[in-house]
Amino acid sequence: MKVAKTFDEIVKWRRSVRLYDTDASFDSNVVDISLDRALLAPTSSNLQLFEIYRIKSPQKLEKLARYCLSQPAATTAKELMVFVVRRDKWSERAKFNYDELSKLFGEKPTPAQRKTLLYYSQLMPFIYINDSLGICGMLRKLISLVFGMFRPIYRGVSLTDIRIIAHKSCALVAQTFMLSMAAEGYDTCPMEGFDESRVKKLLNLPGIAEISLIVAAGIRKQDGVYGPRLRLAKQQLVFEL
Ligand SMILES: Cc1cc2nc3c(=O)[nH]c(=O)nc-3n(C[C@H](O)[C@H](O)[C@H](O)COP(=O)(O)O)c2cc1C
Repeated sequence: MKVAKTFDEIVKWRRSVRLYDTDASFDSNVVDISLDRALLAPTSSNLQLFEIYRIKSPQKLEKLARYCLSQPAATTAKELMVFVVRRDKWSERAKFNYDELSKLFGEKPTPAQRKTLLYYSQLMPFIYINDSLGICGMLRKLISLVFGMFRPIYRGVSLTDIRIIAHKSCALVAQTFMLSMAAEGYDTCPMEGFDESRVKKLLNLPGIAEISLIVAAGIRKQDGVYGPRLRLAKQQLVFEL
């Protein structure tokens, strides 16, 4: 498959669009397809600790745009996608992987397959069990610090580490969504400028849920891209060793 030229065009065409043409016709099927593609994004341990809330109703859009601090990207968007991190879902999502893999592996899993099953049944609980004060995470961190003195060891085990891990995966899902929209000739803008607590209330989300990003979707107005693309020089960002 050689689509590098097309991919290059998509990447270059995607911009954060702040003003959408509210009169342009908008095929919401494109959002559907892009959400399907977004669900194929990689996630840490394939745990898929996210949910996407697709806001289409005019009343909810109006409210959510206000909670996005009335940014033009939100107030003129045709739809708003809320990318939510649900680290509380780790147990059911680990079970999903365990059950599906067990079915695939059959009655007699190979040693490598048994290792994969143990990963979901034992290592995941060890890493993801947490209390609200982060004490479990601190204990794990301590263990990793001690063992890490003698050999390379995985260190992303505190409550904060786990939150970061879940947000990383969620951001990849959001980026896949935005690139797919761009491939279809539609525009987006990722936003972290919002009132998280009001957004959570609007979506009826529990306290532990975290909003990673809200992505506006629409068709760009001519003046919807605010300026040229500014990027640092490659040598300031990319290092070859
Ligand atoms: C995590 C994240 C949060 C962002 N939040 C906002 C935002 O709240 N409002 C906004 O207008 N743009 C937001 N942006 C868009 C950036 O400003 C934009 O990506 C950057 O200026 C580069 O421009 P480009 O996306 O057109 O290449 C956000 C981007 C990211 C990745």
